[in-house]
Amino acid sequence: MSKEPSFMVYLTTHEAVRESFLRHQEALLDRDLPEARRRLERHVRLLCDHIQEEEIDLLPIYGERAGRIEGGGVGLFTAEHRRFERMLKEFRDDLAEMRANDRALDRRILDLLDRQALYKHLLHHHDLRERNVLYPVLDRVTTPAERRKLIEPRRAARRRSTREAAQDRRKTPAARG
Ligand SMILES: [Fe+2]
Ligand SMILES: [Fe+2]
Repeated sequence: MSKEPSFMVYLTTHEAVRESFLRHQEALLDRDLPEARRRLERHVRLLCDHIQEEEIDLLPIYGERAGRIEGGGVGLFTAEHRRFERMLKEFRDDLAEMRANDRALDRRILDLLDRQALYKHLLHHHDLRERNVLYPVLDRVTTPAERRKLIEPRRAARRRSTREAAQDRRKTPAARG
């Protein structure tokens, strides 16, 4: 990556988002429901913050300046965001209903993991769309000064989320024995 500011820095956020979801799934595999809930909340927070920054800061400029792009309309990005939010709400509701002493807990967890596979698939495609279209196009239609202004204020938050994800990673081996 060159020294020029680039929207590609958001790929670090995507990685933290992806990692936080895997952490949640690992807790599910351990049948640790409180931890799975806690990690799902962290994932929701990371993703929703990122969606907000895209919808408030990035997509309006993109919509104005990018012109018509096949497979890259603003409506497509926002529709995917709404779909993620709906799916996450479902996951949250499912988890809220799970009980540690339920004899069918393993089945419920398996069922949840199955549905989460689709979510991960959609998230992956969204990442590709932004990596290949949204961010490079935005880099092209903005000046370095504009990019700096849009990217800088979010940098501290991004560093914090990456650090939190790393802390979680370090905690796990001990927690799992
Ligand atoms: Fe997005
Ligand atoms: Fe994104």
